Amino acid sequence: MKINNSSIKKSIKILEKNECIGIPTETVYGLAANAYSNEATLKIFKIKKRPKNNPLIVHYYNLERLKKDCHVNRYVIKLYKKFCPGPITFILKLKNDSMVSKNVTNNQNSLAVRFPKHHITRSLLKKINFPLAAPSANISTGISPVTKNDVKDEFGKTIKYILNGGRSSIGLESTIVNLINKPKIIRLGGLSIEEINKAIGLNLKYFSENKLKFPGQSKLHYSPGIPIKLNIKNPKKGSAYLLINKKRTNNKNFFYLTKKKNLIEAGKNLYKMLRKIKKKKYKLIEVEKIPNKGLGQTINDRLKRASFK
Ligand code: TXA
Ligand code: MG
Repeated sequence: MKINNSSIKKSIKILEKNECIGIPTETVYGLAANAYSNEATLKIFKIKKRPKNNPLIVHYYNLERLKKDCHVNRYVIKLYKKFCPGPITFILKLKNDSMVSKNVTNNQNSLAVRFPKHHITRSLLKKINFPLAAPSANISTGISPVTKNDVKDEFGKTIKYILNGGRSSIGLESTIVNLINKPKIIRLGGLSIEEINKAIGLNLKYFSENKLKFPGQSKLHYSPGIPIKLNIKNPKKGSAYLLINKKRTNNKNFFYLTKKKNLIEAGKNLYKMLRKIKKKKYKLIEVEKIPNKGLGQTINDRLKRASFK
């Protein structure tokens, strides 16, 4: 999709008035506002119905700009060189003189930062002199949006503008790595653990952080509001069946994440399919077994959380 200068200008105008807009990223769409403004960031929590103690990710154009707000160590530089811009978020130590609003961090001294790859959002970030706080653009605990229309579905007219960037190419949120002490992966995401470990020659493991400290990591999340059952071989009659292996028979209740066992493709389609199934008002979602490797781990994580009761 081409960059449309007038929509970038319009976005900047709204952001400068401390209002929120929807922005496209390669992972999922974000609900963005000026990360340096208390007024603007407060609106994000309100619109999303997000608890104030759940901190936000801040999106930067490049490492140079980030250095004003955070301490950077050798791991950051290594991972930045290899994967940024891209689907990875770093938890870093905030500098004392950082300009990031206290609302973003819930007054803590760590900050989640990321450098989105989507060319339209990069062009926006380049032109503004503040970074963008942007959680996924969905009502708290719901399914993350992967198109402009999904964002519209979530917020209707409560947000002033959505910058269109087509469909998110990865379709799963960024992988979060805490780099403050010994690096650890605290959220599975669009970049697999295997890829990260290969790049930095470490053997990082997924390590879910304290659930109360960061409610975003809590169990019920990414939920379509319909019960989900995993590892199902023989689906019930009227349920929606999510699959990754092509079946010989056709059935209107079959929803393929991929027909080629391609887990990258399955990841891209996951939220789109969950939204579609929700709209069709199914009462139950059953899921075929998905291998727990590469992005399969992230898909299984999201499905488990979405199915938590
Ligand atoms: O791909 C993504 O990361 C998307 C796009 C829009 O960039 N953003 C996203 O943001 O998924 P959100 O707010 O939906 O999820 C951010 C997660 C939350 O679970 C939050 O608790 C956690 O990051 N988080 C934020 N700041 C943190 C911090 N300082 N320490 C630990 N976890 C943090
Ligand atoms: Mg989210």
